[in-house]
Amino acid sequence: MNFKNNPKAFSPNSFTRYYPSWILILTVILLQIYLIFTTTCSVPRSHAAATDGHHFSKTVAEDPCSSGRVFVYDLPPIFNNELLENCQSLDPWTSRCDDVSNGGFGRRATELTGVVPDGLAPAWFWSEQYMLEPIIHNRILNHKCRTLEPESATAFYIPFYAGLSIGRFLWLNYTTSDRDRDSEKLIKWVQDQPYWNRSNGGDHFITLGRLTWDFKRWGNNQWGSRFAFMPGMKNVARLVVEREPSDPLDIGVPFPTGFHPRSDADVLNWQSFVRERNRTNLFCFAGGTRQEIKNDFRAFLLSYCVNDSGGLCRAVKCTGNRCASGDSVVLETFLDSDFCLQPKGDSFSRKSVFDCMLAGSIPVIFWERTAYGQYEWFLPDEPGSYSVFIDHKEVRNGSASIRGVLEKFSREKVRKMRDKVIETIPKIVYASAPEGLESIEDAFDIALHGIFGRFNQRPNGVSKR
Ligand SMILES: *[C@@H]1O[C@H](CO)[C@@H](O)[C@H](O)[C@H]1NC(C)=O
Ligand SMILES: *[C@@H]1O[C@H](CO)[C@@H](O)[C@H](O)[C@H]1NC(C)=O
Ligand SMILES: *[C@@H]1O[C@H](CO)[C@@H](O)[C@H](O)[C@H]1NC(C)=O
Ligand SMILES: *[C@@H]1O[C@H](CO)[C@@H](O)[C@H](O)[C@H]1NC(C)=O
Ligand SMILES: *[C@@H]1O[C@H](CO)[C@@H](O)[C@H](O)[C@H]1NC(C)=O
Repeated sequence: MNFKNNPKAFSPNSFTRYYPSWILILTVILLQIYLIFTTTCSVPRSHAAATDGHHFSKTVAEDPCSSGRVFVYDLPPIFNNELLENCQSLDPWTSRCDDVSNGGFGRRATELTGVVPDGLAPAWFWSEQYMLEPIIHNRILNHKCRTLEPESATAFYIPFYAGLSIGRFLWLNYTTSDRDRDSEKLIKWVQDQPYWNRSNGGDHFITLGRLTWDFKRWGNNQWGSRFAFMPGMKNVARLVVEREPSDPLDIGVPFPTGFHPRSDADVLNWQSFVRERNRTNLFCFAGGTRQEIKNDFRAFLLSYCVNDSGGLCRAVKCTGNRCASGDSVVLETFLDSDFCLQPKGDSFSRKSVFDCMLAGSIPVIFWERTAYGQYEWFLPDEPGSYSVFIDHKEVRNGSASIRGVLEKFSREKVRKMRDKVIETIPKIVYASAPEGLESIEDAFDIALHGIFGRFNQRPNGVSKR
C-alpha cells in the first residue's frame, strides 16, 4: 500500500474540466494556503518549521511535540492483529475482510471515479463506520510525537480493538462472560505494566470504534460488555464515536468517512470542489427505515421527502447495503443539496452527519445529542453557524415545517453556513498519509493534541513532570 504518492492538486484533466472558473479556484487555493501558513504559526508542524524556521520564534520551532509524546503499547496480537486476521468471524453474518483492509479504510472506492475530481479518487475508500480502532492505531504508530521511551511519555495508548472484539459477541446466544473475556484479559495485561501504576491508568487512553453503550452493560442480561465499568478502566480516557454526555472519560471523535486525504493539496482540492458545486436540491434525506420500530422518524422523513416537499427534497432509500458501499448515489445526493436531514439513527449519533458535511451540505439536526455536545474538539462551537436544529417533536405534531424552516434562509446565510461546514472538513477526516498531512491538522491530530492537553492539565497528573 502506498499512500505517499502525492499528485498535484490539479491534474491537466481537471484543469480542462473546470476551466471557466479556474481563476477563481486558484485564487481560493492561494488564499487558503496563505491562511494556513499564517494561522498555524502558533502550532507549527515540523514541516513548516523546517522550511520556514526563521519566521518562528526559536522556542516554538524547536519541538513540534512540546505538548507531549505518546507511548504505544505492544499488545499481544489477540487484542488487535489477530482480530484483523480473523476478519471473517468479526461479525456473525458477514465477512468483514473488505472493511478491515487498507489499514481499516476498507476497499478502494473506484466506483467514485468521475464523481469526485480527477486525481482524488485514490483518496476515497468505502470506510465502514466502526473501523476507527485500526485507523487510529496505524496513524499513531507513525506519528512524530510517538516515543519508544515510556519515561518520556505524556500519554500511553492501549491499542486494544475493543469494538472489533465485542462485535463478535453482541448477538446470538453469547453469554455475558463471552463478551467480557477479552476486556478482563486486557486489563490484567496492562495492569502488569510498570507505567500503569504512575496514575492507575490516568495517563492512558484507548479508542472505542463502536458506540459507548456497547461497553456499558448495566444489568446482567443487557446489551454489551462491561468494559467501561470495569474498575481497571476507571481512569482511562476513551476516544469514542458516540459519547455519553455526562461521562468525562468519553471523548467524542468523528466517525470515519470515506475520504482519506494523502496531502494538504487533496484537502484543498476537495474543499474547492464542494464550494464550487452547483446544488440543485434544497434538501435531501438518505436513510434506511426500521419496520420493527413503530412511528420510526426515519420512515416519516423518507415519506415527507418523497411526498410533501414540493419537489425540493431528494430521497435515497437505503436498503440492504446500498448506502454503505459500492454506490455513489449518497455522495452525489449530498453534493447536490444545500441541506441534509439527519435524524437520530439506531442511536443518537450518525456517521451520515459527517458524510453530509464532507460533501459541503449543511446538516439539519432533530435531536441535540446527534451532534451538539458530542464532538466538541472537532465541530464549531456555535451550532447555528454550521447546522440547523428543528425539534423532532415539533415536526411530528406539525408545528414546524422542515421545508418552511429551510426555505426561510437567505442565499447569503446558506453560503455562510456552507463556508463554515467546508472550513470544518479537515477536522473531520482521517488522513491516509502515514505521518499525517504536511501542515493541516486532521481529526487524528486534533484528538491526540486534545489528549495531551487534557493529561497536562490534570492537577495531580504524574505526566506533568
Ligand atoms: C449457540 O447456539 C448454537 C446452536 O443454536 C450452538 O451451536 C453454539 O455452540 C451456541 N453458542 C454458545 C456460545 O453457546
Ligand atoms: C501496581 O500496583 C498494584 C496494586 O498496588 C500491585 O499489585 C502491582 O504489583 C503493581 N504493579 C507494578 C508493575 O508495579
Ligand atoms: C455552476 O453554474 C454556474 C452558472 O450556471 C456556471 O457558470 C458554473 O460553471 C457552474 N459550476 C460548476 C462547477 O459546474
Ligand atoms: C406518502 O405517500 C404514500 C403513498 O401514497 C403514503 O402511504 C404515505 O402515508 C405518504 N406519507 C406522508 C408523510 O404523507
Ligand atoms: C408541538 O410540540 C412542541 C414541543 O413539544 C410543543 O412546544 C408545542 O406546543 C406543540 N404544538 C402543538 C400544536 O401541539
